[in-house]
Amino acid sequence: MAVRDTNRARVLTAASCLLAIACLVMVYRHVPVMVKEVMELLRPEAHRRYLDGTLGGGGHAAEILTHSGPDGRVLGLDWDGEAIAAAKQRLEEFGERLVARRANFTEAREILKEIGWDQVHGVLLDLGLSSHHVGSADRGFSFQLGARLDMRMDRRQALDAFRLVNTAPVRELERILREYGEERAARRIALAVDQTRRRKPIETTSELADLVARVAGRTRGRSIHPATRTFQALRIAVNRELQNLQGFLEDAYELLLPEGRMVIISFHSLEDRLVKTAFRKWSSNCLCPPRAPFCRCGWSQKTKLLTARPLIPCREEVQMNPRARPAKLRGVERL
Ligand SMILES: C[S@@+](CC[C@H](N)C(=O)[O-])C[C@H]1O[C@@H](n2cnc3c(N)ncnc32)[C@H](O)[C@@H]1O
Repeated sequence: MAVRDTNRARVLTAASCLLAIACLVMVYRHVPVMVKEVMELLRPEAHRRYLDGTLGGGGHAAEILTHSGPDGRVLGLDWDGEAIAAAKQRLEEFGERLVARRANFTEAREILKEIGWDQVHGVLLDLGLSSHHVGSADRGFSFQLGARLDMRMDRRQALDAFRLVNTAPVRELERILREYGEERAARRIALAVDQTRRRKPIETTSELADLVARVAGRTRGRSIHPATRTFQALRIAVNRELQNLQGFLEDAYELLLPEGRMVIISFHSLEDRLVKTAFRKWSSNCLCPPRAPFCRCGWSQKTKLLTARPLIPCREEVQMNPRARPAKLRGVERL
């Protein structure tokens, strides 16, 4: 009897695990942006290796794998365990052509070495959040879905939005809101947060959204929810999004083989500025000040620009997927 009960318990546990994975895969919704433009720039081909540093739901990776059949390979990185699980499931049909790892894209160089690839023929970063993050109440990104303040894309990290909002010095909060959210009411919001948290911690996304709406709701000329900029700024700070991108862009051209291509899609003007600056630097042949009489920098050109200006999604794509609206895509090719 006891054995039968144990077996039944095992079967039920296995079934509920399978159900959880199935639900995760079914509910991992994300429509990849600018797929045609990404494929035109990356030009995936057979026998080649690619790095997708922001695997997400695997939408772009599926296209790269399809275009590089029968034997092109993709290393897919994502620091979100839910994304990795969903992408593995979705891309199962490609078998060993996909290597998926839970990691920060700043670790790409080490992981490429570890799997014996060293360099690749193409690199893609599609920055920011996936629709899955925004749409999952328990991830605490959305002020429309009341939940504990969290906003971590990598849930292994200690800093979350709850800790940031309830412990950061007022000046730091103000800086984050002003710099990352371009929030005009940054000071007023930071002061109101401080006043509130002295009485009791701010626990949920709706508490914070209500507070911001009370403080900044009447600012003239707003066409978006008053808490949008605050939430965007906190998310960027919690996930150190700009620092990670900056770290990656230090020397990421070294990940590319000659004629290998890198494509980066950003959704925020500060991200796009970092990408533009790095790509221009890599693609110039001298970094000396413009009026220097002769070159002393020792720099040599590493890449050529594929996009003089960023590409943006076409009107039809934005109509079908409004999340694509702010996307800016830039590319370079290694010399
Ligand atoms: C916009 S989604 C990518 C969607 C993907 N291109 C697709 O087609 O499904 C961005 C993904 O990048 C991940 N991400 C953001 N910053 C990261 C970082 N520094 N390292 C690893 N993954 C990161 C997020 O967790 C998210 O899953």
